[in-house]
Amino acid sequence: MGFIVSCDVKVFKSLDDLSYHFAELLMNEVNSAKHLFNLVLSGGTTPKNIFNFLAINYQTKINWNMINFFWGDERCVTPDNDESNYKLAFDNLLSKVNIPVENIHRIVGEAIPEVETDRYSELIKNNVPLENGTPVFDMIMLGLGEDGHIASIFPNQLNLINSNTICAVAIHPSSNQKRITLTGKVINSSKNIVFVVTGEKKSKVAYEIISNKSNSNKYPASFIRPINGKLIWLMDQSAASLL
Ligand code: 6PG
Repeated sequence: MGFIVSCDVKVFKSLDDLSYHFAELLMNEVNSAKHLFNLVLSGGTTPKNIFNFLAINYQTKINWNMINFFWGDERCVTPDNDESNYKLAFDNLLSKVNIPVENIHRIVGEAIPEVETDRYSELIKNNVPLENGTPVFDMIMLGLGEDGHIASIFPNQLNLINSNTICAVAIHPSSNQKRITLTGKVINSSKNIVFVVTGEKKSKVAYEIISNKSNSNKYPASFIRPINGKLIWLMDQSAASLL
């Protein structure tokens, strides 16, 4: 496997094995942190399974009251909508472990998107340490779209990778649904970027990105290279089948 991108790729036999590894990684990082741990959650089916695993198996192993929860992206819907990434995390994790409500910083999907990007950017600046004006999260969880999108940065909006704003309004290329997303520079400033990728449908895009194939620059995920932090891919055997 000729990896060009310097990253750590771990392949697991099952989603539970992947979820266990993510849980142990999170536990070690949170419990060793000397400050409130700034964690960015993702939407998607793989994260949903990880949330459930954490809620069942890590109720007492992780200092949940030492985590500030943020989101990498949100659909512009109300928090009770099944499309909401906040609802996904709340139903499967946040409602099941002991987290101070003031540490849950949801993106207000029901607000005017352009207003919410400003509000959420300010909230992040007021809660997350800055380096050269860019917030440095402790860990960002990312899924991978079949089109190579991350958070809500889609292939037809690659400008959001290098945007100087913390958040931006994105538009889903097929549904035209408005989204709020962190931008690429903020994601790349994180101390830990953890991709959680499962399923055969992701195998081609994951292979092209991890192997740094020439055509991979059409994928937003190919621009995810931490400036000072660590990049880790947690994959199941189906998603890693071409590596
Ligand atoms: C979203 C997610 C998105 C997701 C990928 C992968 O809002 O949908 O942020 O980026 O992580 O689409 O989703 P799956 O894990 O469901 O394949």
